[in-house]
Amino acid sequence: MKKKGEKITMLTAYDYAFARLVDKAGIDVILVGDSASMVMMGYKDTRFITLSEMITFSKSVSRAVERAMVVGDMPFMSYQISKEEAVRSAGLLVKKGMVDAVKLEGGVEVAETVRAIVNAGIPVMGHIGLTPQSAAMTRGFRLTAKSAEEGLRLVRDAEALEEAGAFAVVLEYVTAETAEQITKRLSVPTIGIGSGPACDGQVLVLHDLLGLYDNSPPFSKRYLSLTPQVLEAVKTYKREVVEGVFPGEEHARHMEEEEHREFLSRLGRKDE
Ligand code: KIV
Repeated sequence: MKKKGEKITMLTAYDYAFARLVDKAGIDVILVGDSASMVMMGYKDTRFITLSEMITFSKSVSRAVERAMVVGDMPFMSYQISKEEAVRSAGLLVKKGMVDAVKLEGGVEVAETVRAIVNAGIPVMGHIGLTPQSAAMTRGFRLTAKSAEEGLRLVRDAEALEEAGAFAVVLEYVTAETAEQITKRLSVPTIGIGSGPACDGQVLVLHDLLGLYDNSPPFSKRYLSLTPQVLEAVKTYKREVVEGVFPGEEHARHMEEEEHREFLSRLGRKDE
């Protein structure tokens, strides 16, 4: 698609119901992001989700998908300790989570880990710029590559990932100028989020796109405001149950008349 100049679409999903819809809508790549830690589990950042929880979410998504490529995020501390552990974790995401590829965060410092996983036969997507798993340690939740120095460092990170065998690189919250240069220099696709229009593809978190939370990042785009619609539907259901409107006669199923008569006669009176 990069060679043909076709934009690549990627979106997160974490469960069977939404993954089915995202796949049906024709999205190219479904990312089971570790953003599940926040949007599905309510943690304050992405570091708290475990490998086994990521496997559960990945499995639900993979079972729903007929067309798209499914990429599973490697959670915090599933690939940092050693290359061997990284290969083992990636293998579990493939074997138990049934994903097509894995994604991990970092540049030059994880290149050898990427190489080891690729050598084991598992495709790897890189992720540089704002890297939420290490945000507390490094650059925080802010726009990256604002300076020439930082831009150059990010280009080197991207090149190291490509050289190590990554098949694509996510650029998160990177200045548009840096993202454009990285996109031009790599032969593998870049997938941007908050990194301008020059990237080969774009990714968003599904819950941001659907408007399910109020605290979406500034670079995200809301295509639907689902929160008030869900609230309205649930409140209406509650009111109808309380008022005896639901279930109506159309939602009830009945015995045949004869069965009903026999049922009542054999049941006897309650006070007998
Ligand atoms: O976890 C995630 O959803 C991600 C995207 C923001 C790229 O890594």
